[in-house]
Amino acid sequence: MIKAFKDVYGEYSVHMIPCREDNYTFILEKNKCGVLIDSSLYEPVSKYLKENQIKLEAILITHHHYDHVDGIKEIADEHECRILCSQVDYERDAVPEAHDFLNEDSALKLIGLDFKVIETPGHTAGHISFYIESLDLLFCADTLFSLGCGRVFPDGSFESLFTSLQKISKLPENTIIYCAHEYTKSNFYFLSKNSLLDPLKGDEIERRLLNEQRTVPTSLKYETHLNSFLKCSTQEEFTHLRKLKDKG
Ligand SMILES: [Fe+2]
Repeated sequence: MIKAFKDVYGEYSVHMIPCREDNYTFILEKNKCGVLIDSSLYEPVSKYLKENQIKLEAILITHHHYDHVDGIKEIADEHECRILCSQVDYERDAVPEAHDFLNEDSALKLIGLDFKVIETPGHTAGHISFYIESLDLLFCADTLFSLGCGRVFPDGSFESLFTSLQKISKLPENTIIYCAHEYTKSNFYFLSKNSLLDPLKGDEIERRLLNEQRTVPTSLKYETHLNSFLKCSTQEEFTHLRKLKDKG
């Protein structure tokens, strides 16, 4: 049996499959109909879908990195479903398996839910996130992490990542955030080392981190209070902090 976490939101469930060292792959599901958001690793994802008899309606891709698109053609063939990625990634052929593209004008309805596409470039040029307003859920992959944010790859930019984080910060504060990596501990130690956390809060967070199996999902309310990357008010401040994190 493939190990996964399952969070229930009324009639819907989010299944989180841990893959590789620290990735999560997500399935949003209702009555055994599902939407796969990225695929970090073919085997556990394909197996989990089979074991749980979930039939996919679509595969949504946040960005083209290998740990988000592994085996998507095979999974799409197994479920006879379409693969949709961002317009930027589609036009530059970064996700050659994709059947069509999405942008902020796309009206995407799957498994009875409206998916709002939010363009969140920065980690990569073509990164998108998926927001389901009716459930207060955001799938933002490698844009925002708990207590951190994604790295800027050569095709991304600090400026656009800052803008994307600002966009996310404007969503309702009760938004539940599913990010694609379990990086919270290392983000916490970075913030602590650089005295960016109130020491009292820091002790409390550390206790919680050491006791919890997973720190995803997080909430926008929590991140707005504690995530220094999300709290930056200028692009310069953000770039300085992100570069400091890159140094380790
Ligand atoms: Fe990535």
